[in-house]
Amino acid sequence: MSQPIRFYHRNAIREVSGAGVTRTVLQYLREDARCTGTKEGCAEGDCGACTVVVGERDAQGGVSFKAVNACIQFLPTLDGKALFTVEDLRQPDGSLHPVQQAMVDCHGSQCGFCTPGFVMSMWALYEKHGHEQAGGACAGKGACSTPSRQQIADSLTGNLCRCTGYRPILDAAEQMFQAGPPKQPVDVKALAQTLAALERADTFHYEHQGQRYDAPRTVDALAALKAARPAARILAGSTDIGLWVTKQMRELGDVVYVGQIDAMRRIDVSDAFVEIGAAVSVERAYAELAKHYPELDEMWKRFASLPIRNAGTIGGNVANGSPIGDSMPGLIALGARVVLRGGDVTRELPLEDLYLAYQKKDMAEHEFVLALKVPTRTGARANLRFRTYKVSKRFDSDISAVCAAFAYIADGDVIREPRIAFGGMAATPQRAAHAEAVLANAHWHEATAQAAMIALGNDYAPLSDMRSTSEYRLETAKNTLYRFWLETRPHNPLAPQALNVRAVAAESA
Ligand code: FES
Ligand code: FES
Repeated sequence: MSQPIRFYHRNAIREVSGAGVTRTVLQYLREDARCTGTKEGCAEGDCGACTVVVGERDAQGGVSFKAVNACIQFLPTLDGKALFTVEDLRQPDGSLHPVQQAMVDCHGSQCGFCTPGFVMSMWALYEKHGHEQAGGACAGKGACSTPSRQQIADSLTGNLCRCTGYRPILDAAEQMFQAGPPKQPVDVKALAQTLAALERADTFHYEHQGQRYDAPRTVDALAALKAARPAARILAGSTDIGLWVTKQMRELGDVVYVGQIDAMRRIDVSDAFVEIGAAVSVERAYAELAKHYPELDEMWKRFASLPIRNAGTIGGNVANGSPIGDSMPGLIALGARVVLRGGDVTRELPLEDLYLAYQKKDMAEHEFVLALKVPTRTGARANLRFRTYKVSKRFDSDISAVCAAFAYIADGDVIREPRIAFGGMAATPQRAAHAEAVLANAHWHEATAQAAMIALGNDYAPLSDMRSTSEYRLETAKNTLYRFWLETRPHNPLAPQALNVRAVAAESA
């Protein structure tokens, strides 16, 4: 029996039946709920005009607020969550919320099309820093924090503005923290209770015109569903599958959503591994991994926009196996293993072995990615030298032309266990066997690096496409290896900032 989709929106529990399984949150807002403040630009998660905030119960019993792109989120995934849109910022006496007031005061809007999206990204930031929460960290009582201008800029990478320019918007985002709290802050405690009451004990089942949507609560229930209907499409953050619907007009068939399975949303850290559940968001996964591998920090910030990282999952990125996915090269270089589940059987394999050919994986139809295990920096790995580099036309929110990752264990100046992986260079994320063979047990000299650079030509024959030519890719791949040498050579290694064009430009400005 199909159950109605239940979620909290505009101070009430909404119950929806009769909507298509792939009806987007944006379509629902604009066409059904008539909340037309939220805009549609690209319909593919790129422009941020449709940014809304989704609230979910967190492990501490509170609520986490995340900016996401409504244009690629399917309505049934809202079940049990809270949805906030620009209409929610309206104060009871008609006054503006501090986020809105700051935008007015700083002249942060011209045509206004992007403004609701910006305002919602800013509101999520405002919430995150505890400036609004009644019963939470601050509610105007001064226990909140204020982000730096860089943190503000990082949180707005998913919002494009084509007429105002970003400086006034960044000014507004700084200024909103100086104002007092809004007249009517979100009552987080009450909201957490409301969401707790919406929580389902068992699988949520929804159906529309014969298309099934199931959101199991346990891994066993997911395994049973997938075993019974192997062709059912696994859905996590919708950041790729959403576009299959909005851009390619594809029919998805039955859908199984993994975002309600607590066991797949966990991160467990042991001495040996950081184990990341497949439904953990990219943002949370990188936040944890960067604690162990600070070298991932730039990749973390440049892995799509914050709303995409909030929705997308590391398991989805790995399961998708796109040749240009940004997480795989770094994970492969770190020696990550992927855990698969099919029926009652759980197995794990090195991540690189998952990818057999373009869009072909070592995965049976009834199997799914359960988790990723990333080795920690213990034992000999305390001497791990690791870097990952992304080369793309735009700094933020762009697809890599080349994504490189290098790692080895330094034994004095001798290279042990080298691991090199690239994205954008082959039909799958792929290791560089020839270059690794040059490096293995060699002394880390410039001549070694140059020999490995030449060997990369035997590892890859990249394609030319709209992002770059084959020649550019190969040359760039070699140059990233040279950069790795400069940053990790035994004598006089250069600081990453010395080789980062933006850091160098900022310094000389
Ligand atoms: Fe552009 Fe959603 S409409 S990100
Ligand atoms: Fe016009 Fe931003 S104000 S696009």
